[in-house]
Amino acid sequence: MNILHVLFKTSIGKKVAMAVTGFILFGFVIGHLSGNLQIFAHPDKINGYAHLLESLGPALWVIRLFLIVTVVVHIWVAVQLTFENRAARPDGYQKQITLRATLASRYMRWSGFVVLAFIVYHVLHFTVRVTHGPGAYPMTVLADGTVVRDVHSMMVLGFQNPLLATCYLISVGLLSWHLRHGLVSMFQSIGLRTRPWSRFLERVSVIFCVLYFLGNALIVVAAMTGQIRIQNPLVAGYACRDACDVCGAINTEAIVENVDVAKDNQS
Ligand code: HEM
Repeated sequence: MNILHVLFKTSIGKKVAMAVTGFILFGFVIGHLSGNLQIFAHPDKINGYAHLLESLGPALWVIRLFLIVTVVVHIWVAVQLTFENRAARPDGYQKQITLRATLASRYMRWSGFVVLAFIVYHVLHFTVRVTHGPGAYPMTVLADGTVVRDVHSMMVLGFQNPLLATCYLISVGLLSWHLRHGLVSMFQSIGLRTRPWSRFLERVSVIFCVLYFLGNALIVVAAMTGQIRIQNPLVAGYACRDACDVCGAINTEAIVENVDVAKDNQS
């Protein structure tokens, strides 16, 4: 029998497809968080990392396409399973038995919707870079002279807006909740949620998702409260304004101000 037929037409196949796509997306969010945590190091670190990713060129697009297909399959199969579950929903007293499972899957659906909306906004914000004015997307220069996008300042500027920062916190909170249930369902689908493991898996998934939330929240709160600041290009050894004149990139008022302050300090 065709593997695609088994995956997308049988109930067990759909659950395995959910588990596999969920696992891939799970890997992405962990990798993404690890990359983002570099914001706590010297700005060159995260800016160099973003530049490295961008310089992958066509390979980056292959990865992006793979992720998009994974998200689409994950959502598509989730919708199919939802309809199947609705059709099979029992009447009368048996409803009580399935109430908990139904509530959990309802919250999975809602958190999934919000996370999807968040991802669309987030990509427009940080990757397509169209949600804020040009000043929110500065350029900078690495120690080796390479002119790169200043992802460090872009993140700090983004989260200085308390409303946006709160929306990020809520979305990441819902995603963490979604991941926690997704993890347990994933183990169930591949037959690993057996009795002796069940409680252990529940605990591990809770601990893991709390840590995941805290990791993301740390970045947002640190930027919002000024614990991470926009780099001072001159103090860091760069001449940002000159470089920006050369490459024609847009500078932020904040950086221009920093340059002026640093120049005053030097004279
Ligand atoms: C506080 C949490 C987060 C921060 C600070 C953050 C930061 C960023 C930044 C700076 C970029 C742009 C990278 C670049 O242009 O080089 C980015 C891209 C992206 N982020 Fe996040 N992110 C966060 C959470 C998330 C979450 C929870 C998801 C998914 C559920 C996510 C999905 C993405 C995706 C899909 C991209 C586009 C990657 C690409 O194709 O280039 N992010 N993020």
